[in-house]
Amino acid sequence: MHYLDQASTSFPKPKEVVQSICEYLTQCGVSPGRGSYRLAELAEKNVVETREKLSVILQVKQPDHIAFTQNATHSLNIILKGFLQENDHVLICEYSHNAALRPLESLKKSKRISYDVLPVDFDGNIDLADFLRLKKRETRLLVVTGASNVIGVKSKLFPVCDACKEEGIATLIDLTQSLNYVLEQPDADFLVGTGHKTLLGPSGIGFFYAKEPSLIAPPIEGGSPGNSSLSSYHPEQIPYRFEGGTLNSVGISGLLGALTYIERKGSSVIAQEGMSLLGEVWSDLQQIPGIVIYGPKNIENKIPLVSFNLKNWMPQEVAFALDRRFQIATRAGLHCAPLMHKKLKTAPLGTVRASFGHLNNRKSTTALIEALHILSKERNP
Ligand SMILES: Cc1ncc(COP(=O)(O)O)c(C=O)c1O
Repeated sequence: MHYLDQASTSFPKPKEVVQSICEYLTQCGVSPGRGSYRLAELAEKNVVETREKLSVILQVKQPDHIAFTQNATHSLNIILKGFLQENDHVLICEYSHNAALRPLESLKKSKRISYDVLPVDFDGNIDLADFLRLKKRETRLLVVTGASNVIGVKSKLFPVCDACKEEGIATLIDLTQSLNYVLEQPDADFLVGTGHKTLLGPSGIGFFYAKEPSLIAPPIEGGSPGNSSLSSYHPEQIPYRFEGGTLNSVGISGLLGALTYIERKGSSVIAQEGMSLLGEVWSDLQQIPGIVIYGPKNIENKIPLVSFNLKNWMPQEVAFALDRRFQIATRAGLHCAPLMHKKLKTAPLGTVRASFGHLNNRKSTTALIEALHILSKERNP
């Protein structure tokens, strides 16, 4: 099987992920932060170490400002619903995922917030003229996506984030597809990520960073370290403010293994290896008769992901044929990003998306090119 759906979730996981989960479950699988016995302290050490390693990846100085969640969707919901207030206005970018769009739609009803969509071109540029045209007196937050999960382009965020700073507008960056692939990112108020995609960890573990945590209401209340159980209130203290109940220590251990692996191998090496696979297929893809590749003409500002369609084939048929006849796993459809598909005019069927990771190899990219030539020929003789 050639697994080319890394943008959905990374697979296979590095062996360090499996080892770290096994070590936790067999050697100290107790609740972190709850007991004063040594095993509980050991479990807590895993959590602290994971926050520290995440702070390096996120390029932030305060590990305690990083809270664990279930995934990026959970993180976005917590920030948007906890930060936005009645009648606030939000700017959101065209690359946005439903994980950001749907909570905003629900906030339209529950808090009468409104939002406008900032165009982003296929090279990742956001025009400041659009920002100035769309921002309002009530604009309180800019929500941008580090890299599009549809066309695999990294957004160029510095100019718009600087402009927000000047205007006193808070910034939230969804780093779900771009962590490891972006060397430098703007100093944002909120950062959101997930463990199972570019960070190579297990599913079920996500996180967010808040520069000023007191601006976000606690999403849930309950048992937690951080204050006396006699208090009727959930602790204000970070990170417990956001982490009611027992943490996903298994997920955190897996993420710790993944971050240790990334640290050892180097983020840039991992990114480079994924990108060189895209580089290898890029010109061969253009030669396939009847292919339409969406996004930019070159791969300079991309993550290792390509979206395409084949003439006379529906995307779902292509992905099905690739799997059943050629053992190649890709993803077909709208990729939870309706604004991008409107821009590309690929709604309602969407595109076929092939996404690569550093653990893929040339065999898989060659298999993809050969298979697409065969499929193309079948319906474009
Ligand atoms: C840009 C972007 N944001 C958010 C998400 C949601 O991630 P998760 O499934 O970890 O919640 C995805 C998932 O594909 C994504 O591509």
